[in-house]
Amino acid sequence: MKRFNDLTDFDAQEIAGLLELAGRLERLPEPHALEGKVLSLLFLSPSLRTLASFQAAMARLGGGSFVISPEMSIHGLEARPGIVMDGAAAEHVREAVPVIASYGDAIGIRAFAERRDLDEDLADTEFENLVSLVDVPVINMESAIQHPCQSLADWKTLDDLGIPAEGGKFVLSWAYHPLALPLAVPAAAVRMASQRGMDVTVLRPPGFELPPPVMNQARRLAAASGGSVTETDDRREAMEGAHVIYAKSWSSTLHYGDRPGDQALREELLGWCVDEPWFEPAREDCRFMHCLPVRRGVVVADGILDGPRSVVVPQARNRMLAQMAVLYRMMKG
Ligand code: CP
Repeated sequence: MKRFNDLTDFDAQEIAGLLELAGRLERLPEPHALEGKVLSLLFLSPSLRTLASFQAAMARLGGGSFVISPEMSIHGLEARPGIVMDGAAAEHVREAVPVIASYGDAIGIRAFAERRDLDEDLADTEFENLVSLVDVPVINMESAIQHPCQSLADWKTLDDLGIPAEGGKFVLSWAYHPLALPLAVPAAAVRMASQRGMDVTVLRPPGFELPPPVMNQARRLAAASGGSVTETDDRREAMEGAHVIYAKSWSSTLHYGDRPGDQALREELLGWCVDEPWFEPAREDCRFMHCLPVRRGVVVADGILDGPRSVVVPQARNRMLAQMAVLYRMMKG
C-alpha cells in the first residue's frame, strides 16, 4: 500500500481484510512486526486522537515515530507558494516536508482546510500540494475533505456493535457548534456508511447541505453496495428506526468561506444539540457516535455522552487498531 487517502480507493473485500487484520493484531499482538521502521507525522492542525493513536500504533508494532507541528518547531512554517519570506516564518513546507519525509519509511500528514473556496477544498488542493513533495508512502491524517483513518475506525465500530450493513439505518446529523468546522468528517462518514451498504440519512438544517459531489458519490457507493442515501431537515423522519446517529458540525455550504454569513445562519440553530428526545422515533438501542473532540452541552447533552447510547470512547480506540492494520500493510508489505 503506497497511499491511504480515501477509503473508497479500497473495495469491500480489501476493507474487510484491513478490519480482520486490525482484529488479529489486537488478539495476537506482533510487537516486532515493524522493528526498525519509522513513521514521520506532520500535523498542520491540532489533534489528540490522531497524534496519540499513530504513535501508540507504531509502538505496539515495534516501530518508532516522530511528530512535527508548527507549534513545536523553532522555525515558523510557511505554506504559501511564491511568497517572499521576509516575515516571521523561516522555513517553507517545500523544504520542510521532503526533509521530514526523508527521515521515515512512511509519512502521515494532517493538512488544514482553508474553508475559503469550496471547489479547492473538494479538490483537496492543500493536501495534494503537500503530498507532491514526498516520495514515501503517505497516510492522510485528515485533510479538507478526507479522513480515511476515522472512516476505517468507524466501520470497525459499526461491525463491533453488530449493526447490520444491509438494513442498518445510519443517520449523519449536523449539530450546533460555535465555529464553522471542516467538511472532512461528515464527507468521510456519509461515504463510509454508503460504501458499507447502509441506509443513510443526512439530517441537516437548510444551508448546511453537503456538497453535491459528496452526496452524488455517496449515492453511487450506496447503489453499488445495496444501500441508500436520503437527505432531510426533518428530525423525526430521519431518526425513525435509526440504528445509529453520527453527530458532527460542519460549515454552511450556502455561505462557504463567508464567516459572517455562516455565523448568522448557525446562531439560529442552537437547538441542534443531540439529546434524549431525539431518540424517541429511533430503535430503543440506537447508538451515538462522534469522532471527537466534542463540546458537551453544545453538540450533545451530557446524558447521552455519559449514558449507554454513547460509543465514542471505543470508537476512538478503534482509531489505533485500524491504523495498526494500515501501517502493517504499508510498511511490512
Ligand atoms: N477524530 C480526530 O481526528 O480527533 P483528533 O482531531 O483529536 O485527532
